Amino acid sequence: MKLTKLLIIDKDIPVRKDPFKDIEGMHDLKQMIRDEVIDPLKDPESFKDYGIEPPNAILFYGPPGGGKTFFAEKLAEEIGFNFIKVSPSDVGSKYVHGGQEKIKQLFDFAKENSPTVLFLDEIDALIPGRENSEIGHHYASEVNEWLVQFNNCRGQDVFIIAATNKMGKIDSAVLRAGRLDRHYYVGPDRDDRDSTIHPINTGPSNLPTNLSNKRSEGL
Ligand SMILES: Nc1ncnc2c1ncn2[C@@H]1O[C@H](COP(=O)(O)OP(=O)(O)O)[C@@H](O)[C@H]1O
Ligand SMILES: [Mg+2]
Repeated sequence: MKLTKLLIIDKDIPVRKDPFKDIEGMHDLKQMIRDEVIDPLKDPESFKDYGIEPPNAILFYGPPGGGKTFFAEKLAEEIGFNFIKVSPSDVGSKYVHGGQEKIKQLFDFAKENSPTVLFLDEIDALIPGRENSEIGHHYASEVNEWLVQFNNCRGQDVFIIAATNKMGKIDSAVLRAGRLDRHYYVGPDRDDRDSTIHPINTGPSNLPTNLSNKRSEGL
């Protein structure tokens, strides 16, 4: 299989110092992600001494337009990983109910291009609950394949970030310990909700960003 749309963007541009600066607000979230994700991923050995394994998957939940995709991209940039995005809403995406083999190929591709952030957008549609939905039941073998691949990519420099605004529709096995067991709210800062209108579709993301890593969109 040939995977297209891998954009290799100018590798000579030096990596910018602090991509997280582009993210407005969300101070607590940024600090949590630094402590729990970025630092352990950057320096796994010293964390292992304390019995802390770097996570291999996290889940962002929050309202549409709340910055989940944006945050995931900045996080990939921050740790210098390639970024592969799979989105069910992309027309013709091969990975949305394209069968088990396609899912395996996706993970192989992520491993070949490691270190990689594999961003699974709308994971509730990619991995729907088998227990209580007809659709989930119908795609049970695919759901199983996702679970197998989640387990297999441990220690392979593939870091999964999943995103959803429908937490209740995700297959519960995916949310279990050792898989997507770390959940982070990404959205308007809850404390400032009354006082500030959170910027959406404005802000520094419109400035040219350094894209020294490879990006692959809309697979
Ligand atoms: N904290 C933030 N700082 C700067 N821009 C933001 C922030 N949150 C959202 N945005 C802007 O809003 C746009 C939409 O966010 P997006 O990441 O697509 O939301 P979601 O994936 O949660 O639906 C982003 O492209 C970005 O320009
Ligand atoms: Mg999004």
